Amino acid sequence: MKLTLSVIKADIGSIGGHICPSRELFESVSSYVKKHSHDLLIDHYLSFTGDDIAIVMTHTRGTGDGKIHKLAWDAFITGTETAKAQGLYGAGQDLLKDSFSGNVKGMGPAVAEMEFEERTNEPFLFFAADKTDPGAYNLPLYLAFADPMTTPGLMLAPVMAKGFRFVIMDVNHTEGDRIIELNAPEDLYDIAALLRDTERYVVESIWSRTTDEQSVVVSTSRLHNIAGTYTGKDDPVMLVRVQKSFPATGEILAPYAIGPYVAGCMRGSHQMPLMPVPLNSGISYFDGPPVVSCAAFAMHKGKMTEAVDAFAHPFWDNVRNTVSEKAIGMRRQGFFGAAMLPMSELEYTGIMEKLDRLDGKFRIRE
Ligand code: 13P
Ligand code: 13P
Ligand code: MG
Ligand code: MG
Repeated sequence: MKLTLSVIKADIGSIGGHICPSRELFESVSSYVKKHSHDLLIDHYLSFTGDDIAIVMTHTRGTGDGKIHKLAWDAFITGTETAKAQGLYGAGQDLLKDSFSGNVKGMGPAVAEMEFEERTNEPFLFFAADKTDPGAYNLPLYLAFADPMTTPGLMLAPVMAKGFRFVIMDVNHTEGDRIIELNAPEDLYDIAALLRDTERYVVESIWSRTTDEQSVVVSTSRLHNIAGTYTGKDDPVMLVRVQKSFPATGEILAPYAIGPYVAGCMRGSHQMPLMPVPLNSGISYFDGPPVVSCAAFAMHKGKMTEAVDAFAHPFWDNVRNTVSEKAIGMRRQGFFGAAMLPMSELEYTGIMEKLDRLDGKFRIRE
């Protein structure tokens, strides 16, 4: 059965600044989807991560479908009314366009979708991250799909022996999708050279080279490229089909124990470690730290089981402690050096105006 798995997410308002959506807001989005999904969706699931609400949907309409996208868009519009009525902060934050025009791509919400022939059993993972951008998944994906130190399956499972194809996008290119396809293991050093630059090169999808099936899709939108100015971080979502010809769930999850420093956190302008958190967690310290959640599902003919919360397991408590210490360590140096993002990535124009003004005051000493 050919199935489409879509996730569309947006920040449409939050309690206490950018912490998390209100219960009423979440309910209004959820009940809109429930009420309007009958002849469109096979199944759906909603969760929030930080201040972002995500709608995971299964259907047979293919990727980029206008009706599916409109359902999500309208749910977020309805939610925005609730957010306004409650006085939530940043009501409608990620809805950057006034009216829907066929597809939510380029309109603010993040989208990740893939169409595939459903396997006899179809385990998959849904990741959502807040206070960071799509490049945050670069390292975990590289390690899980290209490094046998993380994924022994690359050595042990014959069906993975040929490795994986990485489709990487240059997200600074705004007139159309600028992509490159590279193969692990042959192109490992080239893949690494691109993926180290998380603000420019982002994994968009990953494919098995044995079966040509798709395992991964990541939302790649950059809000400041759409809006031209700071409107919030690009808080990315990701879908990963696991097991059989793909890495095992545990191989996909393992790299999150690193808590790597990623772009994001306070005012979208800092480097902070990525913390794996339970589903429906808000954020806190320094508008962060950047968080990532993971819901695991099994699926049959598009019907999903209940979500299992992959980062709720006690193992991750210790990782969270380590990440907290890394976060505090980085914050000790305030604005200095590596703590703040490079000038080109700062989400506020204030500093540019300051530098322009100061530039006029520089003089060459006689
Ligand atoms: P969001 O993009 O999650 O709204 O975060 C804004 C921010 O940078 C908070 O400091
Ligand atoms: P405002 O500039 O909207 O107050 O948001 C700051 C912030 O928390 C987002 O980075
Ligand atoms: Mg927000
Ligand atoms: Mg957010």
